[in-house]
Amino acid sequence: MSKKLPRVLALSCLLALIPVLASAMGSQPRETDFEAANARIQPLAKVKLAPPSAATAAAPGSRSGEELYKLVCGACHETGVAGAPKTGDKAAWAPRIGTGLATLTKTSIAGKGAMPPKGGSDATDEELARAIVFMANKSGANFKAP
Ligand code: HEC
Repeated sequence: MSKKLPRVLALSCLLALIPVLASAMGSQPRETDFEAANARIQPLAKVKLAPPSAATAAAPGSRSGEELYKLVCGACHETGVAGAPKTGDKAAWAPRIGTGLATLTKTSIAGKGAMPPKGGSDATDEELARAIVFMANKSGANFKAP
């Protein structure tokens, strides 16, 4: 028994040292390795892994009014959720249309009542205006899309 003890001790010391040695030798991946790998695959991943949806069909900034409407605005304005003026409801839209496209765009950027800024979208001001034109023109307006 007394002969075996030093060996057991030596062995357990060695075992305890393995993770320390391994990390010292750099066999464990470091955070910078992941960062470098991420940077390398980033452009590829963006193009290849994006789901084929309406959201990615057109790049932000170039979406048509109809695209943005279907993607975002319609969720509330199609059925009139939370008091949103329904698309096609001329009575609800007439006083709003009367304020003009510039005012409606400003209001939509800022948000109003239950409507969050930009309807909660990442739309540019111009895309927002296009969506308003799409919606308002179905509701009695005769706006020109920017
Ligand atoms: C979460 C629901 C919701 C979404 C999404 C939404 N809206 Fe609205 N919107 C509303 C509500 C509610 C109102 C009525 C606000 C009020 O009059 O208090 C409104 C009002 C408006 C008005 C009239 C503003 C005015 O001056 O009376 C415009 C224009 C408008 N929305 C455009 C948009 C556009 C464009 C989008 C998409 C980018 C959008 N909305 C997305 C809920 C929404």
